[in-house]
Amino acid sequence: MARKYTAAIAGCGSIAHAHMEGYALVDEIDVIAVADPVETARRQYMEEYRIPHGFATVEEMMAAVKPDIVSVCVWHLLHAPMTVAAAQGGAKGIVCEKPMAIGMAEADRMVEVCETTGTKLVIGHQRRFTPGWEKARQLLRDGAIGEPLWVNCTVAEGLANWGTHAIDGARFVMDDPKTLWVMGAVERQTDRYERDTAIEDACMGLVQLERNIQLFVQSDLMREGASAGWFLIRGTGGLLDVSETLVRLMNAGSGGWTDVPLDMKEGDGAIGGNTHAAQMRELLAWLEGGPEHRGSGYKARDTVEIMMALYESARHHRVVRLPMEEKEYPLDLMIREDKLPVVVPGRYDIRAFLRRERIDEAAYAKLRAEGMGHNEIMIRLNQRQ
Ligand SMILES: NC(=O)c1ccc[n+]([C@@H]2O[C@H](COP(=O)([O-])OP(=O)(O)OC[C@H]3O[C@@H](n4cnc5c(N)ncnc54)[C@H](O)[C@@H]3O)[C@@H](O)[C@H]2O)c1
Repeated sequence: MARKYTAAIAGCGSIAHAHMEGYALVDEIDVIAVADPVETARRQYMEEYRIPHGFATVEEMMAAVKPDIVSVCVWHLLHAPMTVAAAQGGAKGIVCEKPMAIGMAEADRMVEVCETTGTKLVIGHQRRFTPGWEKARQLLRDGAIGEPLWVNCTVAEGLANWGTHAIDGARFVMDDPKTLWVMGAVERQTDRYERDTAIEDACMGLVQLERNIQLFVQSDLMREGASAGWFLIRGTGGLLDVSETLVRLMNAGSGGWTDVPLDMKEGDGAIGGNTHAAQMRELLAWLEGGPEHRGSGYKARDTVEIMMALYESARHHRVVRLPMEEKEYPLDLMIREDKLPVVVPGRYDIRAFLRRERIDEAAYAKLRAEGMGHNEIMIRLNQRQ
């Protein structure tokens, strides 16, 4: 029997496996096509997940099979063009990976085009579905620590990479307060990239949210304890220590730190399949007239703006009030303006191990058949070069 919705994957790499595991749990969706310029990558997906159609480009895929839903699972700089291609190609719903975009021009273009085409846009901040974050939001709504005053996020591996999750998560548990201003500092003395996007060596930012809440984020300054899924919240009446699968509370009645029981569903705990399935299900509900998705493009756009404002503040040595005027990627602008001279020359990408072009595909197939995870294989095979 035909399922109600068809879906397709753009970019057959690491995170697309998690999307596939999510789709497999959603009865209403049938994945019918993939697009990837690397033939071995799309062939692998077609065989592993029994997907009938494969294409080199998203445009060809949209024209040929017209999927209802598209998962955009390519590197950051392709998120906007591919979301636009999918929306203009007729997609009713899109789940585009994080970070939504690099620069406000791209983020706003994604929102505008999807509004024009009537496409529902979701960004892959799937941790909004983890039991820890859901519980923390409920506790805050119930006033367990009074009014939140201060949130601490410590991340690594690039602000746009992990930081987008932590900042977005802190916003989620506090019911997405608006941002008023951002003050930031950035260091970039090496020619550092993450998935083809220029990134900082380290940065930190103070974010003023409405309701008198301040959020402090530091990235790549302290590796110990850094996490894309953890934050600490101090409120007028207590403290909340939050991660995806663990929430600890301290308030006047708790008798010190106490673990809060979570509403664990089967399979919860992983950041993969099950949260992706939940993300897809909420998209279906939105498509059928339900409320805006908790990870909508509208919400993710505001997370991007915090990160861009942090860079823009460092660029101008001043507080940046939102909405910010600069639409380009301020870090790129700083590099072009020679404000961040490279002291240790030599471009490198902290996710270079994901590149598939030069790996031994026969060795890949063998390790995969033995059950090894995609990233582990890629690290091993790229190290051999
Ligand atoms: N939500 C999360 O927790 C999470 C986790 C990991 C990665 N991501 C995000 O997912 C995105 C992809 O990262 P990844 O680690 O899966 O990368 P990856 O390198 O493993 O996969 C990317 C795939 O895209 C393909 N591709 C390149 N150009 C293309 C094009 N023009 N059309 C179609 N396919 C193309 C590549 O050949 C590759 O197979 C990134 O933006 C990353 O930040 C999100």
